[in-house]
Amino acid sequence: FSLRPYNTFGVDAKAKYFTEVNTIEELKDAINFSNLHILPVLFLGGGSNILLTKDFGGLAVKLHFTGISEEIINENEVLVTAKAGENWHEFVMYCLQKNYGGLENLSLIPGNVGTSPMQNIGAYGTEIKDLFVNCKVLDIESLEIKTFNLEQCRFGYRDSIFKQEGKGKYVILEVTFKLTQKDHLIKTDYGAITTELENMGIKNPTIQDVSRAVINIRQSKLPDPKEIGNAGSFFKNPTIPLAQFESLKQKFENIQGYPNGAVVKVPAGWLIEQCGWKGKQIGNVASHKLQSLVIINATGNATGKEIFDFSTEIINSVKEKFGIELEREVNII
Ligand code: EPU
Repeated sequence: FSLRPYNTFGVDAKAKYFTEVNTIEELKDAINFSNLHILPVLFLGGGSNILLTKDFGGLAVKLHFTGISEEIINENEVLVTAKAGENWHEFVMYCLQKNYGGLENLSLIPGNVGTSPMQNIGAYGTEIKDLFVNCKVLDIESLEIKTFNLEQCRFGYRDSIFKQEGKGKYVILEVTFKLTQKDHLIKTDYGAITTELENMGIKNPTIQDVSRAVINIRQSKLPDPKEIGNAGSFFKNPTIPLAQFESLKQKFENIQGYPNGAVVKVPAGWLIEQCGWKGKQIGNVASHKLQSLVIINATGNATGKEIFDFSTEIINSVKEKFGIELEREVNII
């Protein structure tokens, strides 16, 4: 069974078995089937953060729970719960149409609601942890439904318990966010948004304006996975000690960094570009010409192995030039 339509890289890896589940009962049946036949299971959300490097000899399960519900808390606040299989961007658009504020800076992020807590998706000054209330999960071993609150999720930059101790233990079923109805917190600190709003001629932006600005910025430099296979940022932005940053600054005076206490976060895109990778293609794989942090399936025929090897070359050259070890953000399967 080809998994090509189920990963945004468009890699043509195969799964031995495949099923799509619409209810928790169907999900439990799939897990029982895999236990009975001693098969590994691969849960597929939007497929926007995985790289399939080989065929999968187990059961691939596409999670397809849908539905959005709301609970008004008071005049200003509302709890909005979306099932895991809802498309993230469509969910954000639904909230904006109802004038619920909070998620607008996260417009146009690929993937589904269910994977958003996995890596605490973030962009343009917002991370989901800022709006997150809790998520319901199915414990794969006990088949019990559990709830994880904000603290229990241990969110960090592109990180959560679901990538650490909880890895492979839970399937996220639904996520609840606390959004605003009236007193919206407009976040335009991220430089690119300010510039874009100026270009749009908007002085007092609404949440819908912020969303439009983010969409414009993303469309101007990030490839649409429907047209060119990719998984967004392939690497995390590395964090290095302040002292290392200071000494790199002596040698590379244009190096950028966002200091945070004793550490500095350095944009991986800049490091990769400095190593000459921006827009460079090897075989079927390339670094995107407008944002080198994004690796693309340039011809549409790349294998996962080719993409993985390409990323290894980038890691090696950044390590050699700057002494910084890039970490992949995408899940390697
Ligand atoms: N830069 C370069 N060359 C490049 C790319 C970037 O010099 O090829 C420089 C830019 O000039 C800029 C800095 O790097 O000064 C940061 O670039 P950008 O604003 O594009 O953000 P980023 O750090 O590259 C992160 C997230 C994105 C998110 C944007 C906006 C990570 C790994 N990536 O990218 O997330 O959209 O910030 O908030 O943190 C994703 O996770 O898939 C993703 C797209």
